[in-house]
Amino acid sequence: MHPMLNIAVRAARNAGNVIAKAYEQLEKVEVEQKGSNDFVTNVDKEAELAIINTIRKSYPDHCIVAEESGELAGSETDYQWVIDPLDGTSNFVRGIPHFAVSIALRVKGKTEQGVVFDPINNELFAATRGSGAQLNGYRIRTTNAKDLKGTLLATGFPFKQKHHSESYMAIFADLFTDVADMRRAGSAALDLAYVAAGRYDGFWELGLKPWDFAAGELIAKEAGAIVTDFAGNHEYLKSGNLVAGNPKVVKQILGKIRPHLTESISR
Ligand code: IPD
Ligand code: CA
Ligand code: CA
Ligand code: CA
Repeated sequence: MHPMLNIAVRAARNAGNVIAKAYEQLEKVEVEQKGSNDFVTNVDKEAELAIINTIRKSYPDHCIVAEESGELAGSETDYQWVIDPLDGTSNFVRGIPHFAVSIALRVKGKTEQGVVFDPINNELFAATRGSGAQLNGYRIRTTNAKDLKGTLLATGFPFKQKHHSESYMAIFADLFTDVADMRRAGSAALDLAYVAAGRYDGFWELGLKPWDFAAGELIAKEAGAIVTDFAGNHEYLKSGNLVAGNPKVVKQILGKIRPHLTESISR
């Protein structure tokens, strides 16, 4: 295993321990509101600290961007760790066992390492660029679905950006006619990891943040997926609008999205 992936795995497991322990005493978790329908807990923050401490021990000069702490500068500006300590906070606080730790390392802007760890099911999805993707050490691949018929897609609702509901619902309706079914499980990082593992055929969501998808994106790609924005380009880092799946599935999802692109979700 690449030494930097090794550190990412160690950090993810440390955070996973913090989260799993807290999950056993959910009544003690302190929930705070960040924005409309947007929550953070003391556990998100403690898990994030565990990750940052683990990374900083090995790489004190690397830069970090983490959901709850923001940007932490370092002198080695080529290296940036992108961290979501707890992806699926809503599930976590409600006792729904579907959430994950997500850690990616970008080197000169390119994602080189990625880990998505589900501490409840003890599933560790990992990838190093160019070396394929693994689940608990076993190689994973996307499905080879050729069209939308019979597919299971994952999505996320625009609950923080309800002004996008209308376009979102229009896309959903068009896709839903063709697919077998759709899931909204509540963790974008796991959605992408599940695409990589061939559990879902594809995934689409709008308005994601870099820490939601940085690790999952690499894992999905290393498993044979392509990842694009809603226009089929690669500007999802800016827009946060993502489509993932094998190239045939992505092409067909994009075809369904295209007629509903508006000025505010043009890519
Ligand atoms: C959220 C989850 C969710 C997605 C939201 C994200 P958080 O992350 O990934 O599935 O729909 O857009 O913000 O806040 O639980 O880390
Ligand atoms: Ca959050
Ligand atoms: Ca997230
Ligand atoms: Ca989070």
